[in-house]
Amino acid sequence: MNENQTARPATLRIPADQLHAYVKAIWARAGSAPREAELVADHLVAANLTGHDSHGVGMIPRYVASLADAQLQLNRHAEVVKDVGAVLTVEGGKGFGQVVAFEAMEQGIARARRLGICAVGLRGAHHIGRIGHWAEQCARAGLVSFHFVNVAGDPLVAPFGGADRRIGTNPFCAAYPRPGKPPLVLDFATSTVAYGKTRVAYNQGKAVPPGALIDHEGRPTLEPKVMHEAPFGSLTPFGGHKGFGLAAMCEIFGGALSGGFTTHTETLGTTNAIINCMLSVIVDPAAFDAPDAQAEADAFIDWVKASPLATGVDRLYEPGEPERIMRAQREAEGIPVDPATWAQIRAAALTVGMSEQDAEGWSARLR
Ligand SMILES: NC(=O)c1ccc[n+]([C@@H]2O[C@H](COP(=O)([O-])OP(=O)(O)OC[C@H]3O[C@@H](n4cnc5c(N)ncnc54)[C@H](O)[C@@H]3O)[C@@H](O)[C@H]2O)c1
Repeated sequence: MNENQTARPATLRIPADQLHAYVKAIWARAGSAPREAELVADHLVAANLTGHDSHGVGMIPRYVASLADAQLQLNRHAEVVKDVGAVLTVEGGKGFGQVVAFEAMEQGIARARRLGICAVGLRGAHHIGRIGHWAEQCARAGLVSFHFVNVAGDPLVAPFGGADRRIGTNPFCAAYPRPGKPPLVLDFATSTVAYGKTRVAYNQGKAVPPGALIDHEGRPTLEPKVMHEAPFGSLTPFGGHKGFGLAAMCEIFGGALSGGFTTHTETLGTTNAIINCMLSVIVDPAAFDAPDAQAEADAFIDWVKASPLATGVDRLYEPGEPERIMRAQREAEGIPVDPATWAQIRAAALTVGMSEQDAEGWSARLR
């Protein structure tokens, strides 16, 4: 139990466009150029819309803390430091991940359109958030992509068989565009649950699913507080040794190959900021001799979705479908923000210089 569980006012439901305007106002007040404030708001609100509240507006307090710590660098842009045609190395310079990843994908997309393929190694970005956002950017351009990401120097996940935190929540993502249909988007943390989901559970006073956490002595627990109060425990990797193995490859492809850094004794605790490195491979499906690729992909999806439902299951989803359904629902009904998260965002807005009066004005409008 935590102190947030005692008084529990109702969760707010905020229309996406109004939440977007509030987020933009916060970052404009912090000193972001209008385009930066827009890209950050686009990303955070889209994460909430897709149901990934762990990567939505609830990240604002963490970003403000990083800014106050002189870690997050406002108004930085992606810098191509090596260009060999189909391989780009891009320095993020602790700039807003929502900006430098967007720009790195723009460069990779242009190159993949020209050459058929482009591998982009983005290093040193401040938190790049929901990775599906970057895969969707590639998919909108008609391009296939896969992304290996590390959370550099910030271990939260125990290795398979280990009892302390050694690895980041290292997400993997892959997307397949389908003309005339929504893309298939697979996007997940290689931990059993994303760290942000333990924050959401902690703020809401809820337990996490069994198998997701171990305490500081390596014992299984359902209590999200082991991730938010000392003595600290760890997340577990999903899928046992397989998830651990994928997390390790995300660490090495994302952190080492990009010229960034991986997690080990020398890189531990070098920053309080969340630093992501990402290897993105972006491919033009038209570059293959595969005139039936679309029909084959569609036939496969139809085939698996025709499976009889297992007991207790009410429908089957293709990768990316739960997020699409949630998006439609939240666009219609508004985005739920729990009171603890809302108060933390308001405090962050004040920290970056928003006046009490303006913060109250936003709260009154959005409540
Ligand atoms: N930037 C970072 O450092 C960082 C670190 C970790 C995670 N993340 C992000 O956190 C987000 C949440 O990750 P997560 O591990 O909690 O995701 P999750 O466990 O909710 O899994 C999401 C994926 O599984 C698919 N899916 C969900 N339910 C399904 C079902 N019933 N049938 C078929 N497919 C289904 C979704 O379409 C999606 O592709 C991701 O967007 C990830 O990119 C970011």
